[in-house]
Amino acid sequence: MYVLGMESSCDETSAAVVEMTDGADGCPALRRICSNIVASQIETHRLYGGVVPEIASRAHIEAVSRITREALDQAGITLADVDAIAVTSHPGLIGALLVGVNFAKSLAYANHIPLVPVNHIHGHVAAAYLQEPDLKPPFLAVVVSGGHTSFYMVEDHTTFTEIGATRDDACGEAFDKIGRVIGMPYPGGAALDKLAYEGDPKAFNLPSPAVKGDDLDFSFSGLKTAALNLINQAAQKDEPISRADLAASYTHTIVQGIVQKTDMALQTKAKGVNTLVLAGGVAANSHIRSALSRLCEKRGVRFIVPDRHLCGDNAAMIAAAGYFEYRKGTRADTSLNASASDYV
Ligand code: KG4
Ligand code: ZN
Repeated sequence: MYVLGMESSCDETSAAVVEMTDGADGCPALRRICSNIVASQIETHRLYGGVVPEIASRAHIEAVSRITREALDQAGITLADVDAIAVTSHPGLIGALLVGVNFAKSLAYANHIPLVPVNHIHGHVAAAYLQEPDLKPPFLAVVVSGGHTSFYMVEDHTTFTEIGATRDDACGEAFDKIGRVIGMPYPGGAALDKLAYEGDPKAFNLPSPAVKGDDLDFSFSGLKTAALNLINQAAQKDEPISRADLAASYTHTIVQGIVQKTDMALQTKAKGVNTLVLAGGVAANSHIRSALSRLCEKRGVRFIVPDRHLCGDNAAMIAAAGYFEYRKGTRADTSLNASASDYV
């Protein structure tokens, strides 16, 4: 079947066509990305150092129709061939989500196509199914993005249990904030990733984002404040601060924190699972990818992380998650609403 995926939860407008066919034992026999068009608004928001919600909504409105047409054209199909429309309905920026949801509702209603609402986080994890054809739940997922830093036990394709999460900022936010302060263009995550190779990871001693104790939570606010204090104190004393050393130490501290809690998860609440999936925009980070890969090797756990182009927000991952929801019987009608929150 062909699933048209639509994503507009933050600053990327995306439409994609994914072809999936039912296979044995719950694994689709075929998963093919026929198109995955992403219109990024990063250049627009860069002027302001972060996403401006009202501008994001307007930019989605301008792009959504064109992007959808491009996705269908590149896939070589028409709306008559589409078996389901999967749209991100939550969580995200409410005005941004509403653009995709309303567009998808109209398209589905006018063309008599089943409409399937999708949780954005489930979408990030579903990118792993596009990557690894034989991946099957149960597995442990660690989702690191601009808005989330959480552990999920993925019981089946549509059932997620959160077993740990950040208590304040997300990992991506923490990267972007320090990136901005040391003069990186928004979003600073990818630039810090590169710069960290040029510095000393032990140059600065920073507080770990892994919350003390045996739960699986994170807190990034103390780390962010400590890094900001270092930068401000150096500025007050008119002393230079090595941006590369700061990037390396900051990244090292985040990576160590994530590795520590992931290891704890594998030995406690996720004990016995044999697969770890890393997902979300920050999953593109090379330091996190290699550290978790090493941890999994040590623990004898299979490690799966999508290719970088499938880590950031894109509609192919929403279409993949939508396929599993469709198979379960999830449907929405024109009363579908968007929600900013994780839970609806
Ligand atoms: O998943 P995503 O595209 O959007 C949300 O759902 O939030 O994640 C965006 C985040 C941004 O904070 C961006 O800086 C971060 O992913 N990011 C990275 C890297 N590439 C993107 N963070 C660290 N290292 C990277 N290579
Ligand atoms: Zn995302």
